[in-house]
Amino acid sequence: MKTALVTGAGRGIGLATAQAFVSAGWRVLALDRAFGGPVVGERVDFDLRSLERIPALLAGLGEIDTLVNNAGVLYCEPYDAIRDEHRREILAVNVEAPAALIQGLAPQMRARRSGRVVNVGSVAAFTGHPDLWYGASKAALLNITKSYAAHLGPHGVLVNAVAPGPTRTAMYEQLPQSRKDAVMRSVYSGRPCEPEEVAQVVLWLGSSSPAYLSGAVVDVNNGSYPR
Ligand SMILES: NC(=O)c1ccc[n+]([C@@H]2O[C@H](COP(=O)([O-])OP(=O)(O)OC[C@H]3O[C@@H](n4cnc5c(N)ncnc54)[C@H](O)[C@@H]3O)[C@@H](O)[C@H]2O)c1
Repeated sequence: MKTALVTGAGRGIGLATAQAFVSAGWRVLALDRAFGGPVVGERVDFDLRSLERIPALLAGLGEIDTLVNNAGVLYCEPYDAIRDEHRREILAVNVEAPAALIQGLAPQMRARRSGRVVNVGSVAAFTGHPDLWYGASKAALLNITKSYAAHLGPHGVLVNAVAPGPTRTAMYEQLPQSRKDAVMRSVYSGRPCEPEEVAQVVLWLGSSSPAYLSGAVVDVNNGSYPR
């Protein structure tokens, strides 16, 4: 049985991803800092802001075939009133922790000449974003995707990303109605994505997509480019 480590698996897209992998017959290590409801997979309590503890965390988790870097944070703040601690948290959780997890798992994946990483970016990476550091963090994560794809590709490890548009989760629900309305005007289908729809793409990239696909970003956005 293969093992997937899914971060931010307590709710939203991460929970749906954990469920998708379990349904496909995988063992799932479900990592989050706060589990509010039922846990799908084996619960791993960890706060990804503790970057220095990531190597010890991984040492205790053993063999991991697929890493899903899903955990992320967004703070709805005007560009000229962003709190320093929020900027630091966004960069730590959305950029530094995913990179540290890939870095920490690279040796075992290289040694097995097999492994997959799926990073959860955002359409925000392509457009600029009302939440300045959120958009910047997602652009950085997509760049990191391509960098690690190049470093690890010769060793049989695939690194890809998804870039979802508005998806019906707590993160999306916190946005002001005016922003949701603006995004919905550009979505072809006139509705937010369901977390399970993103999860199906993550599962594909994390398990069975062709080995030639690496360093790629799959847009799951239905035309939703916020302005
Ligand atoms: N919902 C959307 O519209 C949307 C769109 C594009 C991209 N995304 C991305 O999808 C991913 C999942 O988002 P979601 O919508 O499910 O959000 P969510 O807020 O519903 O879930 C995020 C999960 O990450 C966990 N998390 C946050 N900080 C953490 C930390 N320091 N340590 C461990 N876990 C932590 C939270 O506890 C939560 O369970 C994020 O990376 C987000 O940026 C979401």
